[in-house]
Amino acid sequence: MVDQKEQWGSRIGLILAVAGNAVGLGNFLRFPVQAASNGGGAFMIPYFIAFLLLGIPLMWVEWSIGRHGGKYGYGSAPGMFDVLWNNSIAKYLGVIGLLISMVILIYYTYIESWTLGYGIFSMVGLYHGADSLEEMSGFLSSYQGLQDGEHFTSVWPAYGLMLFTFVVNFFVLWKGLSAGIEKLAKVAMPMLFIFAVILLIRVFTLGTPDPSVPENSVINGLAYIWNPNFDELSKASVWIAAAGQIFFTLSVGMGTIHAYASYLRPKDDIALSGLTTAATNKFVEVVLGGSIAIPVAVAFFGLDMTKEIASGGAFNLGFVSMPVIFGKIPLGQLFGAMWFFLLFVAGITSSVAMGQPVVAFFKNQFGMSHRRAVLSLATIVIICVQPVVFFLGHGFLDEMDYWSGTFGLVIFATVEIILFAWVFKIDRAWEELNRGADIRIPIFFKYVIKYVTPLYLLIIMGVWLYQDAIDILLLNKTSGGNPVDPADVPYIWGARALMVGLFLLLSLFVHYAWKRKRRLGITSFRE
Ligand code: ALA
Repeated sequence: MVDQKEQWGSRIGLILAVAGNAVGLGNFLRFPVQAASNGGGAFMIPYFIAFLLLGIPLMWVEWSIGRHGGKYGYGSAPGMFDVLWNNSIAKYLGVIGLLISMVILIYYTYIESWTLGYGIFSMVGLYHGADSLEEMSGFLSSYQGLQDGEHFTSVWPAYGLMLFTFVVNFFVLWKGLSAGIEKLAKVAMPMLFIFAVILLIRVFTLGTPDPSVPENSVINGLAYIWNPNFDELSKASVWIAAAGQIFFTLSVGMGTIHAYASYLRPKDDIALSGLTTAATNKFVEVVLGGSIAIPVAVAFFGLDMTKEIASGGAFNLGFVSMPVIFGKIPLGQLFGAMWFFLLFVAGITSSVAMGQPVVAFFKNQFGMSHRRAVLSLATIVIICVQPVVFFLGHGFLDEMDYWSGTFGLVIFATVEIILFAWVFKIDRAWEELNRGADIRIPIFFKYVIKYVTPLYLLIIMGVWLYQDAIDILLLNKTSGGNPVDPADVPYIWGARALMVGLFLLLSLFVHYAWKRKRRLGITSFRE
């Protein structure tokens, strides 16, 4: 394993930590938005297919690459790829993994801080009285510093909460794997589950809030998601959206699962653990995440309006429609606080995971102390988060989310599965996955990992490039599909420059790390 001084305290702790890594804002905010805006029942079919053919195999691949790399003392993708493929390019391909986790950490922490802010606002009743979607939308924009409002006239309150969230995240990383991340997951995951179940019960007992409009009901909201609709299956966009959601929600293609798995011993099970975390995430997403935001929005606003709200972007449903609803139900302040704290708890167990690969990289490959590694990452993140906060209205965050949190995941996943199944070779890969396994994985998955998942990924990447990515790159449209405002162009390029700059910086680090390794004659980083 990567570092014998650091290890997971228990198997349950590890599973909760990886599940916490996967369960995040994606389950409660992104999933309902994707499902509602991609045809509800029509979305769920490609979604489950993507789970089976992309999500589960990639989860196993990442646990395997992580545990295998850990054996040689590597806690992040550059070293892990280097041991899979004896070629000097391999470690630079691994830089993508460091980059993606770092970029997502940068903007995710900011969104996470909104959930904390809204949890506090719910408790003190700050947005109570804003009973229309327009008013609540104005509240959100003023909080984000995009316009003046009744309660906020600058971005500083949001900035303060961002700083607080940043400090909490880095405090957990500072405490380390077992005393920080694992301890957090052990408290956070049960708490998240309890909050979600209470909210679910509340939603299910809402019935039909306005008896004069009987079709606006929780049941119709659920029916929208769960009635399969085969008509829209021919739309490529629905398949792509479903695959994108699987990636984001499972945290595959990010480089974070590898980092967690690198602390395992060579014969620790990964087959059952990987499957358990994927299944836990799915349960939380479709059963809990899918039963809160959409049904409640349909009950209060009707189906058409809900689709419209969802098409307005990832934050409309969570930060606009939900608070309006909390303003209308008894004990709304309490339920509102519960919803936003639930999001915060889900978010933080994911964001700490995004910090782990770079921390491990600094420690293992530069010989930095744990504290120095954490502080170094914190410095990079706090610098890079500034434009995310101040240029939010100019699409800075969206641009980072598109290239790193959406497109980048598919790229990294394609690279890793080709390296694992084709370069490292499928027979060794299969043996690696099954070593110490507590379950027998059907042989079917060996073929899925070798042929189906890579092909599926290549097709998605091709369609994506053709349908979206090139147009977005050339500024023919925004990542949200709208025309680009010329005033935003410098900011969009700024976001791209930041990502390219980080890539170059990380590549340089990798270059020096390997130089150092040669200089010191290190053959393995195992301590
Ligand atoms: N998997 C994490 C989420 O769903 C990133 O938010």
